[in-house]
Amino acid sequence: MPIPETMRAVEIARPGGPDGLRPTTRPVPVPAADEILIAVDHAGVNRPDALQRAGLYDPPPGASDLPGLECSGTVAAVGGAVSRWDVGDRVCALLPGGGYAEYATTPAAHALPIPGGMDLRAAAGLCETFFTVWSNVFDRGRLRAGERFLCHGGTSGIGTTAIQMARAAGARVWATAGSDAKCGVVEGLGATAINYRDADFVEALRAAGGADVILDMVGGDYVARNLKALAEDGRLVQIAFLQGPKVEMNLMPLMTRRLTVTGSTLRPRSVAEKARIAAELERDWWPRLAAGTIAPVLDEVFPLEEAAAAHAHMEAGAHVGKIVLKVR
Ligand SMILES: NC(=O)c1ccc[n+]([C@@H]2O[C@H](COP(=O)([O-])OP(=O)(O)OC[C@H]3O[C@@H](n4cnc5c(N)ncnc54)[C@H](OP(=O)(O)O)[C@@H]3O)[C@@H](O)[C@H]2O)c1
Repeated sequence: MPIPETMRAVEIARPGGPDGLRPTTRPVPVPAADEILIAVDHAGVNRPDALQRAGLYDPPPGASDLPGLECSGTVAAVGGAVSRWDVGDRVCALLPGGGYAEYATTPAAHALPIPGGMDLRAAAGLCETFFTVWSNVFDRGRLRAGERFLCHGGTSGIGTTAIQMARAAGARVWATAGSDAKCGVVEGLGATAINYRDADFVEALRAAGGADVILDMVGGDYVARNLKALAEDGRLVQIAFLQGPKVEMNLMPLMTRRLTVTGSTLRPRSVAEKARIAAELERDWWPRLAAGTIAPVLDEVFPLEEAAAAHAHMEAGAHVGKIVLKVR
């Protein structure tokens, strides 16, 4: 298919609420030597897109100002230094931005093959969550078989992935969620559910011996409670602070119980670091996705032009798993 000069896209017309997202027309981006151009089929919607839309999470230097951190699609062009991919290959990819569009560029090393016979709709939501969970739960958190793992936000895109990966790695998993229906979902994925509105996750984990690793995106008063819920030598991994990053607390347990507090954010990491994560995922986790032993949990699909409705849906908090945009 010839590549057009312009494409449909959704831009952040003004920082603020979902209605600041507006359909637009943009030039089709041109891949650099080490990049591919993807004809986007579906694009994943992630909480960081909403932060960017609100003006709280600027794209890194050189990245598209359009939102969208992941997609699935077909390679439409390759840069001069790319040998791995050919035009016509079906891929899913981590993007530096720009996924809410008919075409997007990304470093060739940040694209992965579609696992097995997975459809492009489900594959669109793989990369942001799998890259984030792998680098935080396994790389930084060092979760091992037989350990106890607590995942907050158990029904989020991140949470549904983290529960499945931790279970597949042989860990025992607990997950928090804010309703009985959401608790049913995390139980279905193999976690012990804790409805945080009527139960205390600290008590639940301490009764089980304490968590070896906790993945948290809530912050605020959860930080001190997480430390209480950790076992000796436990690791708290922070990937967001939905209730704020500033806390006053007693850090003595870091010494007395040898705790580790760490975290990371994916988007500003270097091309080489993301390429390393991609290679680890392709080797260890894509075969499990291809075999269907783990699978993405899909919520709703919205047309690209209805990205504002997709964001409102995510921020209403009723979703379970990944929201995706149908681009073509
Ligand atoms: N560090 C990184 O590299 C990185 C990368 C991607 C995403 N993230 C972060 O990871 C989190 C999950 O991302 P996602 O795209 O999977 O988001 P999402 O699906 O919108 O999930 C947010 C989850 O947080 C839970 N939650 C708990 N307390 C909350 C509060 N005070 N306000 C809003 N939600 C609350 C919600 O569950 P309940 O309804 O059960 O409360 C919901 O499941 C986000 O905070 C995102 O910013 C970090």
